[in-house]
Amino acid sequence: MEALNIRCTFLYLTFVFAIIYLLQTLISHKLILGRQPITLKQNPQLPLRFSSDGIFKILQVADMHFGNGVVTRCRDVLPSEFDGCSDLNTTRFLRRLIDEERPDFVAFTGDNIFGTSAADAAESLFEVFGPVMESRLPWAAILGNHDQESTMTREELMTLISLMDYSVSQINPAEDPSSPANARMVVDIEGFGNYNLRVNGAPGSHLANSSILSLYFLDSGDRATVNGRRTYGWIKESQLRWVRGVSQGFEGQKRDSNQSADLILPPAETPALAFFHIPVPEVRQLYFKEIVGQFQEAVACSAVNSGVLQTFVSMGDVKAVFMGHDHTNDFCGNLDGIWFCYGGGCGYHGYGRAGWPRRARIILAELGKGERAWMGVKRIRTWKRLDDEKMSKIDEQVLWDLNSSI
Ligand SMILES: *[C@@H]1O[C@H](CO)[C@@H](O)[C@H](O)[C@H]1NC(C)=O
Ligand SMILES: *[C@@H]1O[C@H](CO)[C@@H](O)[C@H](O)[C@H]1NC(C)=O
Ligand SMILES: *[C@@H]1O[C@H](CO)[C@@H](O)[C@H](O)[C@H]1NC(C)=O
Repeated sequence: MEALNIRCTFLYLTFVFAIIYLLQTLISHKLILGRQPITLKQNPQLPLRFSSDGIFKILQVADMHFGNGVVTRCRDVLPSEFDGCSDLNTTRFLRRLIDEERPDFVAFTGDNIFGTSAADAAESLFEVFGPVMESRLPWAAILGNHDQESTMTREELMTLISLMDYSVSQINPAEDPSSPANARMVVDIEGFGNYNLRVNGAPGSHLANSSILSLYFLDSGDRATVNGRRTYGWIKESQLRWVRGVSQGFEGQKRDSNQSADLILPPAETPALAFFHIPVPEVRQLYFKEIVGQFQEAVACSAVNSGVLQTFVSMGDVKAVFMGHDHTNDFCGNLDGIWFCYGGGCGYHGYGRAGWPRRARIILAELGKGERAWMGVKRIRTWKRLDDEKMSKIDEQVLWDLNSSI
């Protein structure tokens, strides 16, 4: 009797579990249909690193000025191009750039969305960054002066951007870089979107676990009133203090990392690149100097000079700076040994020049070849791609070469 009971109970329970299992596997997904499934952020493979071909290629995309997609019309295109031209042309250009250049990383230098034309900032962000998320490439963005003119503040925008798939953007640094051991919370830093990314050496090389290229992202703000005068934002002293600290901490860490004497490289061999939206006032001086590319409009910088160029010169690691903001300037010019390069406008809803194709910049860092494996960064080159039929490659130049710098 007892045994039969137990067997019955056992069969009964098995039956119940089978039903529950079937419900769970066959039907449950239908029960939550219509609700957003819970998805976690997709992360790229980290750390960022040079490829086994010894290169790290960055696509810089400036001023996409995205609005509401298909209903947002193009500005400054030829009359024959106007019909059927919308934000989707910007999307199409971004896809073409990624397909053509196959970069390792994409850097968006602000005015990603044009706030006043975007009914919903979050929707506009998801649409404008759609192609890069689909590509599964690691990407980072900072803000321009127009991103916050829709439904989200600068802090909210950077928070969302940092949570998007394959984004390695950060709102602001969490730790004080000048004392990584103490991991103190960072002291007040102005703006949203100040962060440092490091790129490791090639797999299999002795620098595979060392960062050999540093990328600084800085928030150049939007607008401000100074002495009653309306002007553009600028990079503040707190941000410069932070970036100086990162640079020094980076050098210090290398000295402490005591795994191999080979790892202790002089600063000249560990270059850095900086990305921000609004040019610094000294860029105006380039009108009188030799440049590569075109200088077609006044530099719309801040009336305040906070000493960004001076800071970078004293740090010594920054070899080139990549900016946006002035869509019809696409040149690179050298100030005190540091290159300042515009991306050139990429977005069809941003102002431009009819008949002058939208464009984007490519930055290629190449490693030196050792006897048996890849070494540190040897050369940094750049060029642009136009959104014309053949995606013309123009204005190729060397920005930095290890051999001529030491
Ligand atoms: C915009 O995209 C459409 C459709 O893909 C294309 O036919 C048109 O030539 C594009 N316009 C410009 C100015 O690139
Ligand atoms: C880098 O780290 C990996 C994983 O920890 C290790 O297997 C490899 O030996 C390291 N390479 C160097 C050059 O230190
Ligand atoms: C450097 O290496 C030596 C010997 O391997 C070790 O005793 C020392 O603690 C290391 N120093 C640091 C700062 O890691």
